[in-house]
Amino acid sequence: MTETGGDQQPRRIRLGMVGGGPGSFIGPVHRLAARIDDRFEFVAGAFSSDPEKSRQAGVDCHIDPARAYPTWQAMVEGERQRADRIDAVAIVTPNNLHYAPAKAFLEAGFHVICDKPLTMTAAEAADLVETVHRTGLVFGVTHTYAGYPMVRQARAMVAAGELGAIRVIHVEYAQSWLTETIEKTGLKQAVWRTDPAQSGGGGCLGDIGTHAYHLANYVTGLTAESLAAELSIFGEGRRLDDNVHILLRYAGGARGMLWASQVAPGEVNGVRLRVFGEKGGLSWHQEQPNELIFTRHGEPPRHITRGGPGAGDAAVYVPRVPAGHPEGYLEAFAQLYTDAAEQILAHAEGRAPSAQSRLLPTVEQGAAGMRFIEAALESNRRNAAWISDL
Ligand SMILES: NC(=O)c1ccc[n+]([C@@H]2O[C@H](COP(=O)([O-])OP(=O)(O)OC[C@H]3O[C@@H](n4cnc5c(N)ncnc54)[C@H](O)[C@@H]3O)[C@@H](O)[C@H]2O)c1
Repeated sequence: MTETGGDQQPRRIRLGMVGGGPGSFIGPVHRLAARIDDRFEFVAGAFSSDPEKSRQAGVDCHIDPARAYPTWQAMVEGERQRADRIDAVAIVTPNNLHYAPAKAFLEAGFHVICDKPLTMTAAEAADLVETVHRTGLVFGVTHTYAGYPMVRQARAMVAAGELGAIRVIHVEYAQSWLTETIEKTGLKQAVWRTDPAQSGGGGCLGDIGTHAYHLANYVTGLTAESLAAELSIFGEGRRLDDNVHILLRYAGGARGMLWASQVAPGEVNGVRLRVFGEKGGLSWHQEQPNELIFTRHGEPPRHITRGGPGAGDAAVYVPRVPAGHPEGYLEAFAQLYTDAAEQILAHAEGRAPSAQSRLLPTVEQGAAGMRFIEAALESNRRNAAWISDL
């Protein structure tokens, strides 16, 4: 990783992928995002459980055919033997196929960028935390919303005390796409998300509830101590929750409410966060992501925009397009990749990574998401009892 090009620029980080085969959703997003800031080159993959589809994906991605592997196990072995081995792997398979490849690539010395929910169980997640600490490798979890400039602006404002002590946190993630039982049509993204063997104990809870939970903790810097959850299944014959209401108690006395739903007609990717402190409130909506509304108590609302007046460093970290030209989901993803690139480079150079790059969601945060899922499942089993094991 330390060799440099002619102008002493570090070379691009070599990225591989597990998952992201033909017709998949998030793998292609990762591949695009990884290259937006030009820090990665995409060179290898085990894209599908079907070796022929993996080979075809390799052709589509213009990679060396020898590096389109039939299985992720073959990819670990193949890559570790190469002089030009990948530096990092992105894991973008269904939830039941995160832990084993993440563990194997770490043990083989590769950095990992893994999608959420981190694993199937909190115990697996705790094991990944231990593995990351022991190996000293970089591990990022793609909680996408943590990559938005205005989310980072909100986090910085809370940390600077602009809201005063936080009292109330209201976070929601509402979608409509499972309003009908489209898993019965065979749509594969719906099939595995509604199958406990592939999705885990949580449905909507794990799929988007973990994003909402992460976002609330990330912006406020607070840790939830206990929760009470009601999980509902509205889709006929569906086996996993498709709507979630959760009350949260935070360290320091703040109180939170989390709603995640995939049966909310009219909602598409309605991620909304509102945080209220003793001096003011913040509001952010991911479908208008370049804007953050800040209201000091007793004053008119202020609209802070990416790169605009009042926006701090966190909101202009990587200038891609000038302020006023909207950035969105791909750039938020790109931010996480750029953070990972800086951490990987710092690792290779034996130095501390920049403070900004440490805003990349961590393996510990991914593990907190798994404890959140298990606590919510337990609470729901016990008729929305308060659970403190977070
Ligand atoms: N961060 C986000 O905003 C975000 C958004 C969507 C999905 N996700 C997460 O990304 C993951 C994938 O979701 P998706 O919607 O892209 O799923 P998908 O079904 O569209 O794609 C999954 C891919 O994994 C491949 N795959 C399955 N088994 C494999 C194996 N054994 N080896 C190699 N590849 C294999 C499939 O062939 C497919 O290409 C999930 O964990 C999901 O929660 C995150």
